[in-house]
Amino acid sequence: MVAARHDKIELVDKELRSGNCPGCDFTGWVKPGEILAPEELARLRKCAERLRDETDVMLVIGIGGSYLGARAVIEALADDPEKVVYAGQNISAHYMTRLRKQLEGKRVAINVVSKSGTTTEPALAFRVMKDIVGCDVAKSCIVATTDANKGALLQLARKEGYETFVVPDDIGGRYSVLSAVGLLPIAYAGIDIDALIAGAKKCAELCANTDPLTNPAYFYAAARNVLYSQGFSIEMFASFEPRLHYLAEWWKQLYGESEGKENMALFPASVDFTTDLHSMGQYIQEGRRMLAETFLIVDEGEPSLTVPKWEDDSDGLNYLAGREVSYVNNKAYEATATAHRAGGVPNMTIHIQKLDAQTLGALIYFFEIACGISGLLLGVNPFNQPGVEAYKKVMFELLGKPGYEKPAGAGKEPEYIAF
Ligand code: PA5
Repeated sequence: MVAARHDKIELVDKELRSGNCPGCDFTGWVKPGEILAPEELARLRKCAERLRDETDVMLVIGIGGSYLGARAVIEALADDPEKVVYAGQNISAHYMTRLRKQLEGKRVAINVVSKSGTTTEPALAFRVMKDIVGCDVAKSCIVATTDANKGALLQLARKEGYETFVVPDDIGGRYSVLSAVGLLPIAYAGIDIDALIAGAKKCAELCANTDPLTNPAYFYAAARNVLYSQGFSIEMFASFEPRLHYLAEWWKQLYGESEGKENMALFPASVDFTTDLHSMGQYIQEGRRMLAETFLIVDEGEPSLTVPKWEDDSDGLNYLAGREVSYVNNKAYEATATAHRAGGVPNMTIHIQKLDAQTLGALIYFFEIACGISGLLLGVNPFNQPGVEAYKKVMFELLGKPGYEKPAGAGKEPEYIAF
Protein backbone atom coordinates (compact mmCIF):
# COMPACT_ATOMS: atom_id res chain seq x y z
CA MET A 1 0.00 0.00 0.00
CA VAL A 2 2.76 2.43 0.95
CA ALA A 3 4.66 1.28 -2.13
CA ALA A 4 1.92 2.61 -4.39
CA ARG A 5 2.15 6.06 -2.81
CA HIS A 6 5.75 6.15 -1.62
CA ASP A 7 7.31 8.50 -4.18
CA LYS A 8 4.55 11.06 -3.80
CA ILE A 9 4.64 10.77 0.00
CA GLU A 10 8.37 11.26 0.12
CA LEU A 11 8.00 14.33 -2.05
CA VAL A 12 5.25 16.01 0.00
CA ASP A 13 7.04 15.09 3.23
CA LYS A 14 10.17 16.82 1.95
CA GLU A 15 8.13 19.86 0.98
CA LEU A 16 6.47 19.96 4.40
CA ARG A 17 9.77 19.74 6.26
CA SER A 18 11.54 22.29 4.07
CA GLY A 19 8.74 24.83 4.48
CA ASN A 20 7.84 24.57 0.84
CA CYS A 21 4.22 23.38 0.85
CA PRO A 22 0.79 25.03 0.87
CA GLY A 23 0.29 26.42 4.37
CA CYS A 24 3.88 25.76 5.40
CA ASP A 25 3.93 28.92 7.51
CA PHE A 26 1.99 26.82 10.02
CA THR A 27 4.37 23.93 10.60
CA GLY A 28 5.96 25.14 13.84
CA TRP A 29 4.79 21.90 15.52
CA VAL A 30 7.01 19.64 13.36
CA LYS A 31 9.83 19.84 15.94
CA PRO A 32 7.97 19.20 19.19
CA GLY A 33 11.03 19.78 21.37
CA GLU A 34 11.40 23.32 20.05
CA ILE A 35 7.88 24.69 20.45
CA LEU A 36 8.62 26.22 23.85
CA ALA A 37 12.01 27.60 24.89
CA PRO A 38 13.29 25.95 28.12
CA GLU A 39 12.74 29.10 30.19
CA GLU A 40 9.18 29.44 28.88
CA LEU A 41 8.49 25.81 29.73
CA ALA A 42 9.86 26.44 33.24
CA ARG A 43 7.58 29.48 33.63
CA LEU A 44 4.61 27.41 32.47
CA ARG A 45 5.39 24.63 34.93
CA LYS A 46 5.73 27.17 37.75
CA CYS A 47 2.42 28.79 36.83
CA ALA A 48 0.65 25.42 36.79
CA GLU A 49 2.13 24.53 40.19
CA ARG A 50 1.10 27.87 41.70
CA LEU A 51 -2.44 27.50 40.38
CA ARG A 52 -2.62 23.93 41.70
CA ASP A 53 -1.65 25.24 45.14
CA GLU A 54 -4.03 28.19 45.13
CA THR A 55 -7.13 26.66 43.51
CA ASP A 56 -9.27 23.50 43.43
CA VAL A 57 -10.25 23.44 39.78
CA MET A 58 -9.22 24.97 36.47
CA LEU A 59 -11.79 26.24 34.00
CA VAL A 60 -10.37 26.10 30.47
CA ILE A 61 -12.21 28.47 28.17
CA GLY A 62 -11.63 27.78 24.48
CA ILE A 63 -13.06 26.09 21.42
CA GLY A 64 -11.73 23.73 18.73
CA GLY A 65 -7.97 23.49 18.81
CA SER A 66 -7.88 25.78 21.82
CA TYR A 67 -9.28 23.10 24.15
CA LEU A 68 -9.60 19.71 22.45
CA GLY A 69 -5.93 18.70 22.72
CA ALA A 70 -5.77 19.50 26.43
CA ARG A 71 -9.03 17.70 27.06
CA ALA A 72 -7.90 14.64 25.07
CA VAL A 73 -4.77 14.26 27.20
CA ILE A 74 -6.43 15.11 30.52
CA GLU A 75 -9.34 12.72 30.06
CA ALA A 76 -6.95 9.95 29.00
CA LEU A 77 -4.33 10.33 31.72
CA ALA A 78 -5.33 12.46 34.71
CA ASP A 79 -5.97 10.72 38.02
CA ASP A 80 -8.75 13.23 38.58
CA PRO A 81 -9.90 14.59 35.18
CA GLU A 82 -12.66 16.55 36.92
CA LYS A 83 -10.03 18.94 38.26
CA VAL A 84 -10.28 20.60 34.86
CA VAL A 85 -13.62 21.75 33.43
CA TYR A 86 -14.43 23.45 30.15
CA ALA A 87 -16.46 26.33 28.76
CA GLY A 88 -16.41 28.38 25.59
CA GLN A 89 -16.88 25.27 23.43
CA ASN A 90 -20.62 25.97 23.09
CA ILE A 91 -23.09 28.84 23.57
CA SER A 92 -25.53 27.00 25.81
CA ALA A 93 -27.05 29.01 28.66
CA HIS A 94 -28.01 25.72 30.32
CA TYR A 95 -24.44 24.39 30.17
CA MET A 96 -22.91 27.56 31.58
CA THR A 97 -25.52 27.96 34.30
CA ARG A 98 -25.03 24.37 35.43
CA LEU A 99 -21.26 24.81 35.38
CA ARG A 100 -21.52 27.93 37.52
CA LYS A 101 -23.57 25.96 40.06
CA GLN A 102 -21.09 23.09 39.97
CA LEU A 103 -18.23 25.50 40.70
CA GLU A 104 -19.94 27.29 43.59
CA GLY A 105 -17.75 27.30 46.70
CA LYS A 106 -14.69 26.11 44.79
CA ARG A 107 -11.52 28.07 44.22
CA VAL A 108 -11.41 28.37 40.44
CA ALA A 109 -8.50 29.18 38.14
CA ILE A 110 -9.36 30.28 34.61
CA ASN A 111 -7.21 29.64 31.57
CA VAL A 112 -8.78 31.47 28.66
CA VAL A 113 -7.31 30.29 25.36
CA SER A 114 -7.81 31.91 21.98
CA LYS A 115 -5.20 32.37 19.29
CA SER A 116 -7.16 35.06 17.48
CA GLY A 117 -8.42 36.49 20.74
CA THR A 118 -11.69 37.31 19.03
CA THR A 119 -13.62 34.03 18.77
CA THR A 120 -17.21 34.59 19.89
CA GLU A 121 -17.79 31.42 21.94
CA PRO A 122 -14.82 31.72 24.35
CA ALA A 123 -15.13 35.52 24.55
CA LEU A 124 -18.78 35.17 25.57
CA ALA A 125 -18.05 32.37 28.04
CA PHE A 126 -15.27 34.40 29.63
CA ARG A 127 -17.69 37.28 30.19
CA VAL A 128 -20.28 34.97 31.70
CA MET A 129 -17.90 32.93 33.85
CA LYS A 130 -15.18 35.43 34.82
CA ASP A 131 -16.63 36.37 38.19
CA ILE A 132 -16.47 32.82 39.53
CA VAL A 133 -12.69 32.99 39.66
CA GLY A 134 -11.54 32.37 43.18
CA CYS A 135 -8.29 32.92 44.96
CA ASP A 136 -7.05 35.75 47.12
CA VAL A 137 -5.89 37.90 44.27
CA ALA A 138 -8.44 37.05 41.61
CA LYS A 139 -6.50 38.34 38.64
CA SER A 140 -3.56 36.08 39.52
CA CYS A 141 -5.83 33.09 38.93
CA ILE A 142 -6.68 34.12 35.39
CA VAL A 143 -4.18 33.18 32.71
CA ALA A 144 -4.60 34.05 29.03
CA THR A 145 -3.04 31.98 26.26
CA THR A 146 -3.14 33.98 23.05
CA ASP A 147 -1.22 35.66 20.25
CA ALA A 148 2.06 37.33 21.24
CA ASN A 149 1.24 40.68 19.69
CA LYS A 150 -2.39 41.17 18.78
CA GLY A 151 -6.06 40.49 19.53
CA ALA A 152 -8.71 41.59 22.00
CA LEU A 153 -7.72 38.94 24.56
CA LEU A 154 -4.12 40.14 24.64
CA GLN A 155 -5.28 43.74 25.13
CA LEU A 156 -7.58 42.66 27.95
CA ALA A 157 -4.86 40.58 29.60
CA ARG A 158 -2.47 43.50 29.49
CA LYS A 159 -5.08 45.89 30.88
CA GLU A 160 -6.10 43.53 33.70
CA GLY A 161 -2.59 42.25 34.41
CA TYR A 162 -3.20 38.54 33.71
CA GLU A 163 -0.24 36.25 33.21
CA THR A 164 -0.05 35.30 29.54
CA PHE A 165 1.33 32.47 27.42
CA VAL A 166 1.81 32.56 23.69
CA VAL A 167 0.13 30.62 20.90
CA PRO A 168 2.97 30.59 18.38
CA ASP A 169 2.33 32.35 15.08
CA ASP A 170 3.35 29.27 13.12
CA ILE A 171 1.02 26.79 14.85
CA GLY A 172 -2.70 26.51 14.13
CA GLY A 173 -5.16 25.54 16.88
CA ARG A 174 -5.53 21.87 15.98
CA TYR A 175 -1.75 21.34 15.99
CA SER A 176 -1.21 23.28 19.24
CA VAL A 177 -1.59 20.68 22.00
CA LEU A 178 2.16 20.53 22.68
CA SER A 179 2.41 24.33 22.94
CA ALA A 180 1.28 26.37 25.96
CA VAL A 181 -2.30 25.95 24.66
CA GLY A 182 -2.40 22.33 25.79
CA LEU A 183 0.51 22.14 28.21
CA LEU A 184 -0.74 24.57 30.87
CA PRO A 185 -4.03 22.77 31.60
CA ILE A 186 -2.32 19.40 31.17
CA ALA A 187 0.33 20.34 33.74
CA TYR A 188 -2.39 21.70 36.05
CA ALA A 189 -4.07 18.29 35.84
CA GLY A 190 -0.88 16.76 37.26
CA ILE A 191 0.29 15.05 34.06
CA ASP A 192 4.00 14.76 33.30
CA ILE A 193 4.43 17.22 30.41
CA ASP A 194 8.11 16.34 30.02
CA ALA A 195 7.17 12.73 29.31
CA LEU A 196 4.52 13.91 26.86
CA ILE A 197 7.05 16.02 24.95
CA ALA A 198 9.68 13.25 25.16
CA GLY A 199 7.22 10.82 23.57
CA ALA A 200 6.46 13.28 20.78
CA LYS A 201 10.18 13.85 20.16
CA LYS A 202 10.85 10.13 19.94
CA CYS A 203 8.01 9.70 17.48
CA ALA A 204 9.29 12.69 15.46
CA GLU A 205 12.59 10.84 15.01
CA LEU A 206 10.76 7.70 13.91
CA CYS A 207 8.61 9.63 11.46
CA ALA A 208 11.55 11.59 10.02
CA ASN A 209 12.97 8.60 8.16
CA THR A 210 11.85 7.95 4.63
CA ASP A 211 11.88 4.16 4.80
CA PRO A 212 8.31 3.27 3.86
CA LEU A 213 8.38 0.14 5.97
CA THR A 214 9.34 1.73 9.27
CA ASN A 215 7.71 5.15 9.04
CA PRO A 216 4.22 4.69 10.55
CA ALA A 217 3.05 8.11 9.35
CA TYR A 218 3.83 7.12 5.76
CA PHE A 219 1.80 3.94 6.20
CA TYR A 220 -1.21 5.69 7.72
CA ALA A 221 -1.23 8.54 5.17
CA ALA A 222 -0.91 6.06 2.30
CA ALA A 223 -3.65 3.80 3.65
CA ARG A 224 -6.08 6.71 4.00
CA ASN A 225 -5.28 7.93 0.51
CA VAL A 226 -5.77 4.49 -1.02
CA LEU A 227 -9.07 3.99 0.82
CA TYR A 228 -10.32 7.36 -0.37
CA SER A 229 -9.35 6.64 -3.95
CA GLN A 230 -11.19 3.30 -3.72
CA GLY A 231 -14.41 5.16 -2.91
CA PHE A 232 -14.56 4.86 0.86
CA SER A 233 -15.86 8.11 2.28
CA ILE A 234 -15.82 7.76 6.08
CA GLU A 235 -13.02 6.84 8.43
CA MET A 236 -14.20 5.83 11.88
CA PHE A 237 -11.80 6.15 14.78
CA ALA A 238 -12.68 3.32 17.11
CA SER A 239 -11.39 2.57 20.57
CA PHE A 240 -12.41 0.26 23.37
CA GLU A 241 -11.30 2.67 26.12
CA PRO A 242 -13.82 5.30 27.24
CA ARG A 243 -10.98 7.52 28.41
CA LEU A 244 -9.89 7.88 24.77
CA HIS A 245 -13.20 9.49 23.79
CA TYR A 246 -11.71 12.97 23.64
CA LEU A 247 -8.64 11.81 21.76
CA ALA A 248 -11.11 10.81 19.06
CA GLU A 249 -12.75 14.25 19.27
CA TRP A 250 -9.31 15.87 18.84
CA TRP A 251 -8.48 13.51 15.95
CA LYS A 252 -11.77 14.39 14.22
CA GLN A 253 -10.96 18.08 14.34
CA LEU A 254 -7.39 17.46 13.19
CA TYR A 255 -8.39 15.49 10.11
CA GLY A 256 -11.71 17.17 9.38
CA GLU A 257 -10.37 20.70 9.50
CA SER A 258 -7.12 19.84 7.76
CA GLU A 259 -8.50 17.84 4.84
CA GLY A 260 -12.17 18.67 4.34
CA LYS A 261 -11.71 21.10 1.46
CA GLU A 262 -12.44 21.41 -2.25
CA ASN A 263 -15.24 18.81 -1.96
CA MET A 264 -12.77 16.10 -0.93
CA ALA A 265 -11.54 13.89 1.90
CA LEU A 266 -12.61 11.08 4.16
CA PHE A 267 -15.18 12.26 6.70
CA PRO A 268 -13.69 11.59 10.15
CA ALA A 269 -16.15 9.99 12.55
CA SER A 270 -15.65 8.18 15.83
CA VAL A 271 -17.19 5.36 17.81
CA ASP A 272 -16.71 4.18 21.39
CA PHE A 273 -16.71 0.40 21.61
CA THR A 274 -18.08 -1.81 22.87
CA THR A 275 -20.79 0.76 23.76
CA ASP A 276 -21.51 1.73 20.16
CA LEU A 277 -21.51 -1.85 18.93
CA HIS A 278 -24.95 -1.93 20.49
CA SER A 279 -26.11 1.16 18.62
CA MET A 280 -23.98 1.79 15.52
CA GLY A 281 -22.85 -1.82 15.21
CA GLN A 282 -25.72 -2.87 12.97
CA TYR A 283 -25.04 -0.10 10.46
CA ILE A 284 -21.32 -0.70 10.48
CA GLN A 285 -21.81 -4.39 9.82
CA GLU A 286 -24.52 -4.20 7.19
CA GLY A 287 -25.33 -0.62 6.20
CA ARG A 288 -24.09 1.30 3.16
CA ARG A 289 -20.53 0.21 2.31
CA MET A 290 -18.55 3.44 2.58
CA LEU A 291 -16.86 2.94 5.96
CA ALA A 292 -13.27 2.25 6.87
CA GLU A 293 -12.17 1.86 10.46
CA THR A 294 -9.04 2.70 12.43
CA PHE A 295 -8.76 1.01 15.81
CA LEU A 296 -6.66 2.40 18.61
CA ILE A 297 -5.94 -0.47 20.97
CA VAL A 298 -4.27 -0.45 24.36
CA ASP A 299 -2.64 -3.88 24.65
CA GLU A 300 -2.06 -3.84 28.40
CA GLY A 301 -5.33 -2.72 29.92
CA GLU A 302 -5.10 -1.52 33.49
CA PRO A 303 -5.75 -1.67 36.36
CA SER A 304 -5.97 -5.38 37.04
CA LEU A 305 -9.61 -6.38 37.51
CA THR A 306 -10.71 -9.97 37.31
CA VAL A 307 -14.08 -11.58 36.71
CA PRO A 308 -15.35 -13.08 40.01
CA LYS A 309 -16.56 -16.67 40.23
CA TRP A 310 -20.19 -17.29 41.26
CA GLU A 311 -20.97 -20.67 42.77
CA ASP A 312 -24.33 -21.04 41.02
CA ASP A 313 -23.08 -19.52 37.73
CA SER A 314 -26.56 -18.06 37.37
CA ASP A 315 -25.48 -15.68 34.58
CA GLY A 316 -23.36 -18.30 32.78
CA LEU A 317 -20.18 -16.26 33.05
CA ASN A 318 -18.08 -18.72 35.01
CA TYR A 319 -16.21 -19.65 31.84
CA LEU A 320 -14.54 -16.24 32.26
CA ALA A 321 -13.99 -16.42 36.02
CA GLY A 322 -10.47 -15.41 36.96
CA ARG A 323 -9.88 -13.70 33.59
CA GLU A 324 -8.82 -10.05 33.41
CA VAL A 325 -11.62 -7.72 32.26
CA SER A 326 -9.07 -6.24 29.83
CA TYR A 327 -8.60 -9.72 28.32
CA VAL A 328 -12.32 -9.81 27.55
CA ASN A 329 -12.13 -6.27 26.12
CA ASN A 330 -9.24 -7.25 23.84
CA LYS A 331 -11.13 -10.28 22.59
CA ALA A 332 -14.06 -7.98 21.84
CA TYR A 333 -11.70 -5.88 19.70
CA GLU A 334 -10.37 -8.92 17.83
CA ALA A 335 -13.90 -10.13 17.20
CA THR A 336 -15.04 -6.70 16.00
CA ALA A 337 -12.12 -6.26 13.60
CA THR A 338 -12.73 -9.73 12.12
CA ALA A 339 -16.50 -9.31 11.78
CA HIS A 340 -16.29 -5.81 10.31
CA ARG A 341 -13.66 -6.83 7.79
CA ALA A 342 -15.80 -9.77 6.75
CA GLY A 343 -18.72 -7.36 6.40
CA GLY A 344 -16.81 -5.11 3.99
CA VAL A 345 -15.35 -2.56 6.39
CA PRO A 346 -11.58 -2.48 5.88
CA ASN A 347 -9.77 -1.76 9.10
CA MET A 348 -6.33 -1.11 10.47
CA THR A 349 -5.12 -1.03 14.05
CA ILE A 350 -2.74 1.19 15.96
CA HIS A 351 -1.50 -0.74 18.97
CA ILE A 352 -0.07 0.95 22.04
CA GLN A 353 1.37 -1.18 24.79
CA LYS A 354 0.02 0.99 27.56
CA LEU A 355 -1.55 4.38 27.93
CA ASP A 356 0.89 6.83 29.54
CA ALA A 357 2.17 10.34 28.90
CA GLN A 358 5.05 9.23 26.72
CA THR A 359 2.90 7.03 24.49
CA LEU A 360 0.21 9.67 24.19
CA GLY A 361 2.81 12.29 23.22
CA ALA A 362 4.02 9.90 20.52
CA LEU A 363 0.48 9.28 19.29
CA ILE A 364 -0.30 12.99 19.10
CA TYR A 365 2.77 13.62 17.01
CA PHE A 366 2.09 10.59 14.82
CA PHE A 367 -1.43 11.79 14.01
CA GLU A 368 -0.24 15.36 13.37
CA ILE A 369 2.57 14.52 10.97
CA ALA A 370 0.49 11.86 9.22
CA CYS A 371 -2.29 14.43 8.83
CA GLY A 372 0.03 16.98 7.22
CA ILE A 373 1.32 14.34 4.81
CA SER A 374 -2.15 12.95 4.14
CA GLY A 375 -3.57 16.40 3.34
CA LEU A 376 -0.74 17.27 1.00
CA LEU A 377 -1.08 13.89 -0.68
CA LEU A 378 -4.76 14.64 -1.23
CA GLY A 379 -3.82 17.98 -2.74
CA VAL A 380 -5.19 20.42 -0.14
CA ASN A 381 -3.62 22.93 2.23
CA PRO A 382 -3.78 20.99 5.53
CA PHE A 383 -3.04 24.03 7.66
CA ASN A 384 -5.83 26.49 6.90
CA GLN A 385 -9.56 26.39 7.66
CA PRO A 386 -11.33 28.93 5.43
CA GLY A 387 -14.65 27.07 5.66
CA VAL A 388 -14.96 27.76 9.39
CA GLU A 389 -15.65 31.42 8.60
CA ALA A 390 -18.91 30.83 6.69
CA TYR A 391 -21.22 30.32 9.68
CA LYS A 392 -19.51 33.10 11.59
CA LYS A 393 -20.27 35.65 8.88
CA VAL A 394 -23.96 34.72 8.79
CA MET A 395 -24.17 34.59 12.60
CA PHE A 396 -22.61 38.06 12.88
CA GLU A 397 -25.15 39.37 10.36
CA LEU A 398 -28.00 37.81 12.33
CA LEU A 399 -26.65 39.18 15.60
CA GLY A 400 -26.11 42.64 14.13
CA LYS A 401 -22.39 42.77 14.90
CA PRO A 402 -21.09 46.17 13.83
CA GLY A 403 -19.55 45.86 10.38
CA TYR A 404 -21.67 42.80 9.48
CA GLU A 405 -25.09 44.41 8.96
CA LYS A 406 -27.30 42.28 6.73
CA PRO A 407 -28.45 44.06 3.56
CA ALA A 408 -32.25 44.52 3.63
CA GLY A 409 -34.06 41.50 2.12
CA ALA A 410 -30.86 39.46 1.78
CA GLY A 411 -30.40 35.87 2.86
CA LYS A 412 -32.72 32.93 3.21
CA GLU A 413 -34.15 31.87 6.53
CA PRO A 414 -33.22 28.35 7.68
CA GLU A 415 -35.86 25.66 7.27
CA TYR A 416 -37.48 24.38 10.46
CA ILE A 417 -39.20 21.34 11.78
CA ALA A 418 -41.30 22.62 14.66
CA PHE A 419 -42.94 20.48 17.33
O1 PA5 B 1 -7.78 24.66 14.73
C1 PA5 B 1 -8.22 25.79 14.64
O2 PA5 B 1 -7.58 26.70 14.09
C2 PA5 B 1 -9.55 26.16 15.22
O3 PA5 B 1 -10.20 25.07 15.76
C3 PA5 B 1 -9.39 27.17 16.33
O4 PA5 B 1 -8.56 26.62 17.33
C4 PA5 B 1 -10.73 27.56 16.91
O5 PA5 B 1 -11.55 28.06 15.90
C5 PA5 B 1 -10.56 28.61 17.97
O6 PA5 B 1 -9.89 29.71 17.48
P1 PA5 B 1 -9.16 30.71 18.45
O7 PA5 B 1 -8.08 29.96 19.15
O8 PA5 B 1 -8.62 31.79 17.56
O9 PA5 B 1 -10.19 31.22 19.42
